[in-house]
Amino acid sequence: MDYGFDSRTIAQLQLEGSRKWTAFPGSICMWVAEMDLGIAPEIRDYLIAEARRGTLGYLPPQEATEIVEATATWLSQFGEKPEPKRMHLIPEVLAGLRVAIDYFTPAGAPVIVPTPAYMPFLTIPGEHGREVREIPSIFDASRWEMDFEAIEATLEPGALFILCNPHNPTGRCFSREELTRLSDIIDRAGARVFEDGIHAPLILDGTYIPYGTLNDATRTHTVSAVAASKGWNIPGLKCAQLIFHNDDDATRFEPHTHAICAATSTVGARAARVAFEEAGAWRTAAGAYLAENMRILEERVAGWDGARVAHAEGTYIAFIDFSETRFMKEALAEDPHANAAKIILERAGVALTTGTACGAEYGAWARLIAATPRAVLHAALDAIETLM
Ligand SMILES: Cc1ncc(COP(=O)(O)O)c(C=O)c1O
Repeated sequence: MDYGFDSRTIAQLQLEGSRKWTAFPGSICMWVAEMDLGIAPEIRDYLIAEARRGTLGYLPPQEATEIVEATATWLSQFGEKPEPKRMHLIPEVLAGLRVAIDYFTPAGAPVIVPTPAYMPFLTIPGEHGREVREIPSIFDASRWEMDFEAIEATLEPGALFILCNPHNPTGRCFSREELTRLSDIIDRAGARVFEDGIHAPLILDGTYIPYGTLNDATRTHTVSAVAASKGWNIPGLKCAQLIFHNDDDATRFEPHTHAICAATSTVGARAARVAFEEAGAWRTAAGAYLAENMRILEERVAGWDGARVAHAEGTYIAFIDFSETRFMKEALAEDPHANAAKIILERAGVALTTGTACGAEYGAWARLIAATPRAVLHAALDAIETLM
């Protein structure tokens, strides 16, 4: 089936008025993690039918139970099925991070974040009075790996470690060996993990291994969140799923259920069920389209003298190192704090995420969201290429 992934032009995207395409008027916008590819017909039809029925009241508890069951069943393709009775609907994955900080770590405990990281992981802990400790990951030009030794040296009892898998912005899908090594380290330290699996529906050629159900240690120390929002391009519908992996954690959350879960959108919750149960074909087609976009992106970046990008096993996100490119070397010679994304916006008219938002040392890097029609992707890459 043709889902029309190529149908939007830059002019149309600018007119449609998303956050992504309005923030930098006149630029090609590649900085927010959402797709310019529309939505699944099943979700569109559900939304229209819901509006026609006018049934936009509060979600009955029985339906919430069915929706978490649908999520658990969808997740079971990756391994052990999480227990639906320990799952809740929440408005956003980041609400799950706030739950993990507030209710599952002692006041004042630090938050450990491997970098580069999804930007809010570095700012949200501060809103809760928490110190963030950044642990730069190791990059060997084709692959990113967590620096396990540095993580172990930084952890302390009660600390919260943020595991994003599949990883934004590096595209890594961590292996069973890596996740097992992490679980041993966390277990020894008496720390906790918040597992963000929002990109689980967006596997390219990697394998998604859920961490919370990996082994007895991870079931004890992990709070997880997933969502249909990235995989089916519906983040504005405001629904994610929080998952506890043991009864004690589920019981500990119980008093906070209403405060956190009641903010979930009825429409978003029902759309999530449509996504997980009915819209698999669209997601598969979108995944294939995105895989080709990432292949093109990686091939073109490989042709840019001095630029580097790791192969993404999942997501539609690329974190590109411009530090050895001609334009960046010239800029860094004049100003050691020169910022790649700023230069690319000013000189090439392409809006990327500034690398420093992903970690202190990434000023010469930038994050690019490749979930866009191919002609738009090529236009952005052509524009950036003029700087090489
Ligand atoms: C890794 C990751 N986590 C969380 C979010 C935000 O999700 P939500 O809007 O459900 O909080 C994003 C959005 O891009 C993301 O990439």
